[in-house]
Amino acid sequence: MAEFKLDPVWEKDIAEKRELVNLWLERLLPPEDSVPVQLHEAMRYSVMAGGKRFRPLLALYAYGLSGNDPVDIIKPACALEYIHTYSLIHDDLPCMDDDDLRRGRPTVHKKFNETIAVLAGDALHAYAFELLASSGNSEIVSEVARAIGTYGMLGGQICDILAENKEINIEELKHIHTHKTGALIRASVRIGAILGGISGDDLEVLSGYGEKIGLAFQIVDDILDEVSDTETLGKTAGKDKETGKATYPRVVGLEKSRQIAEQLIASARDDLSRMNIPVEVFHIFADLIISRQY
Ligand code: IPE
Ligand code: IPE
Ligand code: MG
Ligand code: MG
Ligand code: MG
Repeated sequence: MAEFKLDPVWEKDIAEKRELVNLWLERLLPPEDSVPVQLHEAMRYSVMAGGKRFRPLLALYAYGLSGNDPVDIIKPACALEYIHTYSLIHDDLPCMDDDDLRRGRPTVHKKFNETIAVLAGDALHAYAFELLASSGNSEIVSEVARAIGTYGMLGGQICDILAENKEINIEELKHIHTHKTGALIRASVRIGAILGGISGDDLEVLSGYGEKIGLAFQIVDDILDEVSDTETLGKTAGKDKETGKATYPRVVGLEKSRQIAEQLIASARDDLSRMNIPVEVFHIFADLIISRQY
């Protein structure tokens, strides 16, 4: 995969914003000693286990494009991470991907039990919408709801499960990946932009960019599952092959998968040249996706 050296100034800036997200994710969660204690423990356990915080960062930087202070939208940004974490808890359940390890820790159903895992996911989902609604902007609430519903993430998740051990063509596979993963990533860019007052052509460009990096993100996830190891990933490597998952490497091979991901990233970066405002950090995010190790 392409060699990429992150500019130290941006590296520091991204690290600081990630810290801000982590601080608020922790601060906004219900206290662990409040009833129902076990549920609150499980929510905290999964959210605070780490993670790249990619979705909230995209939203914060999209909002910042208009010169706004990202902290203004920290609650909706955290909502995106709570939704993502809910999707991971449910994705790992025995009735879904049946995984034992996530973010370097036992999955929620392993550490607690299945009931707690289902409900902790549900609780994060509900809480996320409470936070999104607190922005007072109903457009972003609808945007996220649609992105994660049957026409988005959930639609992708069911197709992913139904495609296990089945013959699948590249178009069907693209549908799965743009929905199960791409939709929330695209929405993350969009809600930051919308809250920052970006509209018209610029919003269109950012949406297309979000769609492309979202698909590339999942292709890279598929590649890493094959070529990386469990310790680096914090989740069980090689699991996709074992369970006959519909992945890019399975359908087109590793080399072609890398090429497709790289083309998507190049195309997403090209699109950015049509923006009417400076968007350097979005070039960096595109490169980070392709060069990430976990
Ligand atoms: C993992 O997402 C699941 C996918 C959608 C590919 P991330 O790779 O963003 O996982 P974390 O949040 O960093 O743990
Ligand atoms: C996960 O895709 C997509 C969602 C959670 C919505 P994967 O099943 O490939 O993610 P990992 O590999 O378990 O992180
Ligand atoms: Mg899955
Ligand atoms: Mg999975
Ligand atoms: Mg995966």
